[in-house]
Amino acid sequence: MLNMSTRSLNRLDHWLAAADQALRTLSGAVTASRPAPRPASAAHPSLAEPGAISREHTPANGALTEEQRQQSAALMRVNHVGEVCAQALYQAQAMTARTPELRDQMLHAAQEELDHLAWTHQRLKQLNDRPSLLNPLWYAGAFAIGLAAGRAGDAVSLGFVVETERQVEEHLAGHLDRLPQQDLASRAIVEQMRQDEARHGRQAREAGAATLPSPVQAVMRAAAKVMTGTAHRI
Ligand SMILES: [Fe+2]
Ligand SMILES: [Fe+2]
Repeated sequence: MLNMSTRSLNRLDHWLAAADQALRTLSGAVTASRPAPRPASAAHPSLAEPGAISREHTPANGALTEEQRQQSAALMRVNHVGEVCAQALYQAQAMTARTPELRDQMLHAAQEELDHLAWTHQRLKQLNDRPSLLNPLWYAGAFAIGLAAGRAGDAVSLGFVVETERQVEEHLAGHLDRLPQQDLASRAIVEQMRQDEARHGRQAREAGAATLPSPVQAVMRAAAKVMTGTAHRI
């Protein structure tokens, strides 16, 4: 009886913590534990404000034209949505982890993803733009997917992390091709995120991840495509 109520209280505690994290993620009330990565050339006087927005129509000293600003903002909005989803996935997978070790690993990764969330949010503001209006929807969908992955067992849950991080890493590498060369600030953030995501994938693989079947990988890829295509604009 006592065990039962302790378990119920633990479960309630996890749900309350998850709700609190959801509100923080969606309201943007998150603080990065690491400062946003800065471009190596930021120390150079002519590039003191990399990615600043040009008042003229020609880019100079790392400033962006209106067209480049829009391109950067669209890509950083997509990346911010990705981080909103990462919070939802990791929180749900932590909640459903069968062992305390895996729960801790998921929460630790979620903590590092908070940096990405804060950096992309801050960069969107610097670019005079806004996050996706559909973030609550993305969060709810990703949380449901994270619960399903977690309930399938720890090896599958870790396999899901490996595949997600692999797809995100590929996606970020694509963004490095598409971000304006002048937008050094966004590029520095995306490059650091790419390295962190690769490490998250590696850690999940080392923790005993199962390989997901190809059709599941294909469905994940299709879902990510819908999300990125929509977040580019809305
Ligand atoms: Fe991330
Ligand atoms: Fe990650």
